[in-house]
Amino acid sequence: MIYYPLSALMLAGIREILVISTPGDLPQLARLLRDGSHLGLDISYAQQDEPKGLADAFVIGADHIGQDPVALVLGDNIFHGNSFFDILQTETANVDGCVLFGYPVSDPERYGIGETDADGRLVSIEEKPARPRSNRAIVGLYLYDNDVIDIAKNLRPSARGELEITDVNLTYLEQGRARLRDLGRGFAWIDAGTPESIVQATQYVQALENRQGVRIACVEEIALRMGFIDAEACDRLGAELSASAYGRYVRLVAAEFR
Ligand code: G1P
Repeated sequence: MIYYPLSALMLAGIREILVISTPGDLPQLARLLRDGSHLGLDISYAQQDEPKGLADAFVIGADHIGQDPVALVLGDNIFHGNSFFDILQTETANVDGCVLFGYPVSDPERYGIGETDADGRLVSIEEKPARPRSNRAIVGLYLYDNDVIDIAKNLRPSARGELEITDVNLTYLEQGRARLRDLGRGFAWIDAGTPESIVQATQYVQALENRQGVRIACVEEIALRMGFIDAEACDRLGAELSASAYGRYVRLVAAEFR
């Protein structure tokens, strides 16, 4: 699962990554991803001791972010589409305020929802509204300028005691500095946070992978294509896993790239 959101960051050209998780899950993630150098990344880890909300990531990660702009991606979000690389490259080039991504869904009461006016300008954001004003879900990938740290630090916790990402986005909206970019119809976004959506994600990924013979979110392949590692390094990573179909695929990608 972690490879999908990690891929999104890698396709955006982001190589300095802070993984934030629970005390229980963090060691497992660290065992898998290590310091990231095998993928040409710089991965570090931070613990969130209690579920204090998504926006708490900017409080925990303030030192890691420093003076830079930042992207937040949720660990259960899956993105796939031809246009994704281009969208990420365009939107990360110059982040002023915040960039949110919208995706039409049939169950808008499950998500943060964005409403736009006739000119496509974002006019409202609501978290899991009982009566949604639109069917445009705000997906779990957010781009912010450096102000996000101060905004998160000054947020009041919600009724459930959490720093809500929607409240961060509302602050930017009130300042007239929030934008919603549509991911479009020919795109797959799945928040795999329920048993049903995990089944959906599995079926989607399996159908495409079997039909096309490609792997979705193969981080070794992405590292190679993004120029983070060379073909030799990619082949070595595949060789470590060569007892599996995944490892053989990584080696094939490296061989074809040479
Ligand atoms: C969170 C956000 C919500 C967003 C969703 C995307 O909800 O609060 O605004 O639309 O992620 O995955 P959660 O899935 O944590 O309930």
